[in-house]
Amino acid sequence: MSRRLVILGSTGSIGEQALDVVSRSEELVVVGLSAERSWEPLVEQARAWGVRRIALADEDAAARASEAWTDGEVLSGSDGLVRLIADAECDMVLNAIVGSAGLLPSVAALTEGIDLALANKESLVVGGELVMQLAEATGASIIPVDSEHSALHQLLGAERPGTVDRLILTASGGPFRGASPADLRDVTVEQALAHPTWDMGGKITIDSATLMNKGLELIEAHHLFGTPYERIDVVVHPQSIVHSLIQLCDGATLAHLGYPDMRVPISYALHYPERVDVPVRPLDLVEVGALTFEPAAGDTFACLRLAREAALAGGTAPCTMNAANEVAVHAFLRGRLRFLEIARVIEQTLEALPATQVHSFDSLADADARARTLARELVAERAAA
Ligand SMILES: NC(=O)c1ccc[n+]([C@@H]2O[C@H](COP(=O)([O-])OP(=O)(O)OC[C@H]3O[C@@H](n4cnc5c(N)ncnc54)[C@H](OP(=O)(O)O)[C@@H]3O)[C@@H](O)[C@H]2O)c1
Repeated sequence: MSRRLVILGSTGSIGEQALDVVSRSEELVVVGLSAERSWEPLVEQARAWGVRRIALADEDAAARASEAWTDGEVLSGSDGLVRLIADAECDMVLNAIVGSAGLLPSVAALTEGIDLALANKESLVVGGELVMQLAEATGASIIPVDSEHSALHQLLGAERPGTVDRLILTASGGPFRGASPADLRDVTVEQALAHPTWDMGGKITIDSATLMNKGLELIEAHHLFGTPYERIDVVVHPQSIVHSLIQLCDGATLAHLGYPDMRVPISYALHYPERVDVPVRPLDLVEVGALTFEPAAGDTFACLRLAREAALAGGTAPCTMNAANEVAVHAFLRGRLRFLEIARVIEQTLEALPATQVHSFDSLADADARARTLARELVAERAAA
């Protein structure tokens, strides 16, 4: 049986690795691809994979792709992404878009009852309750692609309800593990992008350096697995060999191990519930030698604390936090904000926009827009100072 797959964000780090997984699979058939504005790589992918429909979120990029590529249809804008999903007659959507722009396509897939392989953690950070309710209502599955959540999905699969006491997410600690706030004052973009164990897109790499990524993953885990926040821990594990752990009621702790390679969780999600060969080195524990663990230093990495606070506040707070983070990270990558100011912009945005209840996806869109406007103002003030 073949599985028809739409890959959103196919020109990115996860998207390209997903195509590598597909290239080794007899079962997976790509029927749709999308990007934001990288139209040339997208058209190249469409040619290489024999795909007849692609979508570009950026209208200009879509117009250029239509001129250059006449072998199929080019859809454009956020409506185009939704049409790509709805009209593809696909079995699964891999959402590998970065940022809250991924929410709408996640909602589109789940609304159609299409299973979702979810790399876009922001979908759950922003719209967790509504997204999970939607999946339940339509019967679509959400299979996580994030390595920690893929590990948890695998660990939890065999356990009966009521037997799992705690989830433990591991964090590499990023390039600044062990640093003091003073060490981080003049951090450059290049230093922040030099992740010690994972090779990823720019935004998530900065999120890993600030530990916001672990904060986003905390919220993602809460929604995916229905686990209260007080029963989800974060521990720093610099080798990135243990991807997550669960603690059970009988005193057993189960861990998921492997070398860091995103093709493993991508393959797991795309083939679930089957497993297929992935060309990765088998884990050699003697070669690894030591696995070490340490607490996450909350004083230095304020983003993790802010994410936990926003998670506990609930309502629109995680959406507000996520939007402010996206604006701040974008500004840092463009040299308009210093590294430690990322957390300050998020904190000030959260202080100014207290959480309100989420009634609908529209109320999330409003909260996202308000937070972005304010965060941009805060960035501009700091850039001008
Ligand atoms: N990279 C990893 O190893 C990793 C691991 C775990 C989880 N994740 C999660 O996976 C997601 C993707 O991460 P990534 O590292 O692969 O990101 P990335 O390399 O930056 O790629 C992002 C992809 O999304 C597209 N895109 C960006 N903005 C968009 C928008 N507004 N509308 C539609 N498409 C848009 C990009 O298109 P263009 O090429 O045109 O910009 C690109 O195809 C993130 O949520 C991240 O947290 C990533």
